[in-house]
Parts: sequence; C-alpha cells; structure tokens
Amino acid sequence: MVEFKQVHSLFVGEVSGIDLRDPVDAETQAALVSALDTYGMLVFHDQKIDDEQQMAFSARFGPLGQTAIVKRKGYTPRLNPHFTDISNLDENSEVLALNDRRRMMALGNRLWHTDHAFRPIPSKYSLLFAHAVPSEGGETEFADMRAAYDALPDARKAQVADKVAMHSLMYSREVIGFTDFAPEEHAAFPPAPHPLVRTHSGSGRKSLYLAAYASEIRDMPVPDGRILLRDLTEHATQRQFVYTHNWRVGDLLMWDNRSLMHRAGDYDMTQRRDLRRLTVMQEISTMDEARVA
Ligand SMILES: [Fe+2]
Repeated sequence: MVEFKQVHSLFVGEVSGIDLRDPVDAETQAALVSALDTYGMLVFHDQKIDDEQQMAFSARFGPLGQTAIVKRKGYTPRLNPHFTDISNLDENSEVLALNDRRRMMALGNRLWHTDHAFRPIPSKYSLLFAHAVPSEGGETEFADMRAAYDALPDARKAQVADKVAMHSLMYSREVIGFTDFAPEEHAAFPPAPHPLVRTHSGSGRKSLYLAAYASEIRDMPVPDGRILLRDLTEHATQRQFVYTHNWRVGDLLMWDNRSLMHRAGDYDMTQRRDLRRLTVMQEISTMDEARVA
C-alpha cells in the first residue's frame, strides 16, 4: 500500500510502497494527487524505470507536454520529444563541450523558474527521474510559493492581487547573456500572460506564480514591474521556504508547478548528469483558470 512520510517541515512527502514499473490503480493515483495537493512535492526513491515506464506513469495524471527545443539543423535530440533532457549529454550520450549551445541554453535552468511558464497553458506537474548524477553538487532547490504568498504583508498582497506577468523563454536566457535564437524560435515562443497570484484548485491555497521568464507586469512601467518581480522572487526564495534535494540514482521527483518554483545547482560539468523530465500539462490557460475561479 502506498504511504507518505513528511521529510521536510514544509512541503516534501516521501513515498513508499510503490514500484513505478507496475501499473498504478485509480485509488493509488487519487492518493498521489491528494498528497501532492497537500505537500507540493513527492519523492520516490530507488525506482528502476525506463523511459516508457516513466511516460506510462506520468500520463496517468493528464496530457504530457513536449520539449521546448525547436529542431535545428544538425541537432538530433537524445530522447523522445515528450522528454526535456535535463542532462549534459549529446545524442551519443557523450558529455557536451563547454561551448555547446545546448549546454548554455540549459544553464537557464539555474535561475528560479516553474516549468513551461513561458506557455499560455503551462505544466501542472513535472516528473524528473535520475539516471546518473555527479559525485557532488547538481542538487535541485525548491521554493514553496504558497508559504511565500501567505507570508507577504497585507499591503503587498493587495498590490499583487490582480496583476498579470508576461513570461518569455527568450528573456530568461537574455538575462544570462544567451541570445542565440533563430527567428522561428522567437515565433514559436511569444510572451505568455499569467496571473501573479494563483489559487490552487486542489487545496484552495493561493500562491505566487513566478519564474525567470517573467519580464514585465501588464499595465506597469517595465522597470517598476521588473523590480517588483525581483522583490517577490527574493522574498519567495528565502531559506525558510526552500528545500534542497540531493539526487541519488533512482530518485523520481514529482512536483506541482502551481505550488513550487525550482532551480538547478552547480556541478562539475565534465561529470555525467542524466536527468529526464516529463511534464503533465494543464488543460486550460492560467488566465482562463483565473476567470472561472
Ligand atoms: Fe525546471
């Protein structure tokens, strides 16, 4: 029987009694969704799944997303296009060179973000599985955006209540000086609007919806919007809201992007780090979600 144990005072549940190679029944699935509503993130240790099994488990929770990588000449993806390749490996599973475009693009994951927030319909859940990890470093940090919202002063809550932020994939890379995008990539990812504060349908809790993609706030001068976004991000990523996950091979992390923000940590990039992520997408945009809430 599936069981949950709180391993972090805020939002991390460790799951036991489940082998993800086996089909998940409806009762277990409902228990996992309910646990995610409460915690925000679930950790499954010592799993032995392949890509197909990760896809089968993930697809139980909704439609799978697609990688944001636009096909470029001479580039062959290593994984099925449903996967986002969170590795430092090329299509032959060799470590990427320091000047490889894919490695530099992936450095954007070191900034605090929520997955697929650059799309009008972003992801609900992310499921990240560890095939290989470096000997040290390469951790992932998570911040609880519900607790961060709750801790805002009332005046700040009033200020952000009805604000809409524009999220751009390209902006998050420009911030670190990476601008090597083709016109078709710009065309594929126009800025997407999202409410700055969301209400979680499962728990009823409010959360800040932030990401490094957020470049401005509608109806505010750009500098004012960026300063507000920076202030909110600094607030939300204070240590008391953050859990750091030190990866072991066989860990699967499943988290709710409506509740948490995350970022990757530094590591020795001559060592192999092979993590593979699937996303379960929302069915409606965040703007529609806010209208029906
Ligand atoms: Fe991510």
